[in-house]
Amino acid sequence: MRFHVALATASMLVLSACTAQSTAQTASSSGTADVLAPDMATTLDVASPDGRDSFSLSDEGGQLRYTVSRNGEEIVGSSRLGLRFLGEHSLDANLKIVGESRSETDSTWEQPWGERRVVRDTHKALTVEVERIDTGRRGFIDIKMFDDGLGFRYRVPNSGDVAVIDELTEFNIGPETNSWTIPARMYNRYEYLYAEKPVGQLQLVHTPATFEKESSVHLSIHEAALVNYSAMSLEQNREGVLEADLSPRSDGVKVRLDGDILTPWRTIQISDDAAGLVNSDLILNLNEPNKLGDVSWVEPGKYAGIWWEQHIREGTWGNTPAPNRHAATTEATKAKIDFAAKYGFNGVLVEGWNTGWDGDWFNNGDVFSFTETYDDYDMPALAQYARDKGTRLIGHHETSGNITNYENQLADALDLMESSGVRAIKTGYVADAGNIKRVDENGVAHYEYHDSQALVDHHLKVVKEAAKRQIAINAHEPVKDTGLRRTYPNWVSREGARGQEFNAWGVPPNGPDHALDLIYTRMLSGPMDYTAGAFNLRPNEMEPVGEDLLRNSPASRIEHTLAKELSLYVALYSPIQMVMDLERNYEARPDAFQFILDVPTDWEESLALDGEVGDFAVIARRDRNSEDWYLAALTDATARDVSIDLSFLGDGDYEAQIYRDGAEADYESDPYDIVIENRTVSSADKMELSLGRSGGAAIRFLKLDNE
Ligand code: NOJ
Ligand code: CA
Repeated sequence: MRFHVALATASMLVLSACTAQSTAQTASSSGTADVLAPDMATTLDVASPDGRDSFSLSDEGGQLRYTVSRNGEEIVGSSRLGLRFLGEHSLDANLKIVGESRSETDSTWEQPWGERRVVRDTHKALTVEVERIDTGRRGFIDIKMFDDGLGFRYRVPNSGDVAVIDELTEFNIGPETNSWTIPARMYNRYEYLYAEKPVGQLQLVHTPATFEKESSVHLSIHEAALVNYSAMSLEQNREGVLEADLSPRSDGVKVRLDGDILTPWRTIQISDDAAGLVNSDLILNLNEPNKLGDVSWVEPGKYAGIWWEQHIREGTWGNTPAPNRHAATTEATKAKIDFAAKYGFNGVLVEGWNTGWDGDWFNNGDVFSFTETYDDYDMPALAQYARDKGTRLIGHHETSGNITNYENQLADALDLMESSGVRAIKTGYVADAGNIKRVDENGVAHYEYHDSQALVDHHLKVVKEAAKRQIAINAHEPVKDTGLRRTYPNWVSREGARGQEFNAWGVPPNGPDHALDLIYTRMLSGPMDYTAGAFNLRPNEMEPVGEDLLRNSPASRIEHTLAKELSLYVALYSPIQMVMDLERNYEARPDAFQFILDVPTDWEESLALDGEVGDFAVIARRDRNSEDWYLAALTDATARDVSIDLSFLGDGDYEAQIYRDGAEADYESDPYDIVIENRTVSSADKMELSLGRSGGAAIRFLKLDNE
C-alpha cells in the first residue's frame, strides 16, 4: 500500500487515541484521497526503481515537508516545500494532500551529440495534488525518482498573473555535511574558485553544489529545465538547512508569471561515490525532448581563434593609438584560418571584429555594433577564404551586458553570420552581477542579474533565433546550464565558471584544484567552454610586444603540467573544444600536439571510473565515430599513482598512445616533463600511472585490426 495516513504529531497521539483508529480506516491505495480531518497528516512515499532511494512527502501541520533516504539512511532530513505570492494567498500553509497519481517509465532516447549517444530514462513518478484548505487553491508537486537521484517541481495551472516572492524549498542536509560550492550573487557571477567546507559554514551559494555526507554518500543539488523562471541559489537558513533563494528581478520580485506556474525541477543527484555523480544523466532526463527536429547542422568539433592573443596582451580587441594593436585584422585572421585548415579544425573564432571595442569595452554595452566590421577586418573575404579552405568563421557577440542593444540588432546580427557561413556564435555578457542592462519600451533602464528571469528569457530567445538560421550558441557569462541542450541542441556550450582566461590575468590563477572541482560541480550541469590546450604554461613571462602593451602579472599562469592540460580535452566535456594557444607554441611541440589533433569532441559513451571531488579523476570516453577510447587521468597538487582497470575496452587489442607526466613532472618545478609512448593493451589489462603534482595523463586507445 503506497498511500497511508499517519498521525500528525506525537502530541496528537496523546490527545486523541480515536483519531488513530479513523486514520487506519481512511487509508486508500490510489486516486484521490478521502476527505480527511484537518488534524491528520498524509504521507506519500515513492522509491527509486532499484528501491534504494525513497522520497517521502507529508502535509503534517498544514506544511508540505519531505525527506529523502538511501538504503535507510536519511540523507535529506525534514525539509519544507512551498511558494509565496505577492498580494494573494500562497501555497505555504493550511495545505492538505488531496490526490496522487503514479507512473513508471523505462525508456531510452538519443542525443544528437553528447557524452553518450543513448541515454536511459528509468524512473518512478508521483504527482501529488495539494489544496489550501482555507481558500481552495490547488497545486501539484511532481516527483520523479531515478536510481541516480530525484527531481521535484511545483505546478499550478491557470494561476493567472502571479508574482512569486519566495520559494520555500529546503534541503536539510545537516551542518556537518561537506560541500564544494561557489558564492552566489557576487560580482563575478559564476567565476569563482570552489571552496570546500561544511554546510554549517555556507552562506549563499550557486548550484550545482556538491556534498558528501559522513557516510560518503555524495549529493549534487541543482535544477533542471530552467525556463520562464529565475535561477535557484541556496542559502543556509537554519543550521544545516539550505533554502532555495531565487535570483530577483530588477523590480524586486523573484518571478513574474502569467497563466501557469511551472517551476524548474529541483534536483538531488545521489551516488555512493564521486564518480557516480559524473555518470548521472538525471538533469538531461528531466528536460523536454528536442524541439528543433533535425539538428544535424550542429557541428561538434575543435576550433582555433583570435582570443588568447588578447588575453595575454599580444594584441587588443579594439583599436589603440599607434602602433595599432588591434588583433583581429584580415591578415591575422587569414593566418588563423590557415592554421585551422592545416590541422582540420572546423572553426575559427574571431574576437574584436566589430566596432564598439575601442577604449573601455567592459563598459561599451551601449555602443557595440553587431553588423559593422572594423576597417581592417574584411569579413566577406575572410568568410570566403575560410570556406575555400574547408573551415568556417565562428561568430562573436560580446554584449558587455546590454541585452537590449543586442536584442535590437539580433535579427540583422544573426543574418550577417548566416550569410558568412557561420555555424556557431560565442556570445558574451561581461558585466558585474546585477548589472545587465535592460531598457524597457519607455526607455527606462533596468539592471538585472545574469541568472534572473530576464536573462533566462533572453538566452532562450537568442538560442531560438539562432536555431532558425542553423547557428549554435556558446554563451559566456551565461545563466547556468540546467540541461536545456536536450530541448535546444544548438545550445552547444557555455562558460559559467572560471575558464582558461583566468590563467592569463587572474590572480590567483585557476590553481591545481580547479579542474578537479569543476568535474564534480559545474560540469554536472553540462558542457563547458573551458578552452584548454595551453602549451606555453607561463605566457606572462614573455617579453611584452611593446611598452604600450605590458603583460599581465607573471603570477597568472597555468598551474598544470603539460600532460594535465592535454587531459582536459577528455575530462571537461564540451562538443566544441578550443585549441586556444598560439600556433607557434603548438608547432614547437608537434609530439604533444598530436593528442589534440586526434581527440574527438563527440562521444558514444562516457565513464567516470574513479576519483574524489577536488582531488583526482579518471574518465574514459568512447569516440562516437570509431571504436577508439580516450582516457583522462588528472590530479590536484598531490602527486598520486592511479591504477586503471581497462575492462571498459572492447574485444581485441588496442594501441595505447600515452601522453603522461614524466618522473620529474611537477606543475611548479617541471611542468613540461612529458613521456609520450605506445603500448599494446587489452580489456584484461590494468594500467598504472604516476601523476605528478597537478599532473595528468591523456591516452588514446586506438583499436587495432586483429583480423
Ligand atoms: C569574457 C569571455 O569569457 C572571454 O572568453 C572573452 O574573450 C571576453 N569576455 C571578451 O568577450
Ligand atoms: Ca568569462
